[in-house]
Amino acid sequence: MANIAFLGAGMMGQPMVRNFLRNGHAVTVYNRTLEKARPLEALGAVLAVTPKAAASGADVIFSSLVNDEASRVTWNGPDGALQADLKSGAFAIEMSTVSLAWVSELNEIATARGLHFLDCPVAGRPDVAETGQLKIFAGGDAADVDAMRPVLAAISKSVMHVGGVGSGIKFKLIYNVMGAIQVAACAEGMQACEAAGIDIAVAAEGFSTGATGSPHVARHARYMAENSHEEPIQFSGRMRIKDLAYGVRLIEDVGGQSVIGRAAKSVFEQMVELDMGDLNDSELLDTLRRVHQKDRA
Ligand SMILES: NC(=O)c1ccc[n+]([C@@H]2O[C@H](COP(=O)([O-])OP(=O)(O)OC[C@H]3O[C@@H](n4cnc5c(N)ncnc54)[C@H](OP(=O)(O)O)[C@@H]3O)[C@@H](O)[C@H]2O)c1
Repeated sequence: MANIAFLGAGMMGQPMVRNFLRNGHAVTVYNRTLEKARPLEALGAVLAVTPKAAASGADVIFSSLVNDEASRVTWNGPDGALQADLKSGAFAIEMSTVSLAWVSELNEIATARGLHFLDCPVAGRPDVAETGQLKIFAGGDAADVDAMRPVLAAISKSVMHVGGVGSGIKFKLIYNVMGAIQVAACAEGMQACEAAGIDIAVAAEGFSTGATGSPHVARHARYMAENSHEEPIQFSGRMRIKDLAYGVRLIEDVGGQSVIGRAAKSVFEQMVELDMGDLNDSELLDTLRRVHQKDRA
């Protein structure tokens, strides 16, 4: 069993920590807002007041943080995990959806400190994380990925080795751009149906069961039609915009074009403009309804 340091007890971090504990690992948790991590203490986790304290002596250091800035300060700030008394040969595993540029820099800093580095962003929402069924897109040496499979088994039954360091986050960002495009398309289609006088429950059924019915569209069309939008919030409009910003930049940096990705980003940005950015991404339909009403007024 591994001695794990886990940085970031957010919506994704908490269920992952619970699964490491359920599988018999020892887990020390750092969260910027310590109180939010308190429920994990009752389950056997040790809470640390700095990332540095959490990482000292750990076999594996995981992070699940909101963005580049949060990851940078948590790993490499004055009290960051990389300032710890690190165990030789330990692993640093970044699971956050962050930019390729930051993952590449973090890899350099972590390996210079003698750590094995993997980028292992995840797919699946907090409810999926709770079941230990996340998809992991792993970037790093094959031997390092294989060495970590027994530990990762606590949170995932699907660890896909994409390629060398950085490949996991490249794939995840492109995957999330495609996902966001589908959610934006779903909201646009639902709003268009409504404006055209079609019952949105009927529209949701048609989109979900027809050739348009990817798992993403099926899930979001149902939330939109039922006006249920998952409570508590699992993935906000603001998070979509963050992923699209990193993803579109990556696609364009590697010489691709991301015309539809850029369009999806501007569609989600309307959620923030209407002060709806912290709501679930499926509330995009309500944003489009409000934009439509404003345009017609
Ligand atoms: N939610 C999903 O469905 C989902 C699915 C797949 C991947 N992801 C990715 O997983 C990562 C975590 O997402 P989440 O849903 O768990 O988000 P979340 O609930 O908002 O948690 C964000 C975490 O980042 C920390 N944080 C935020 N700003 C910080 C800062 N400036 N310095 C240090 N720590 C900071 C938060 O600490 P506080 O508690 O102190 O705010 C919290 O631990 C993100 O990269 C996200 O894109 C999410």
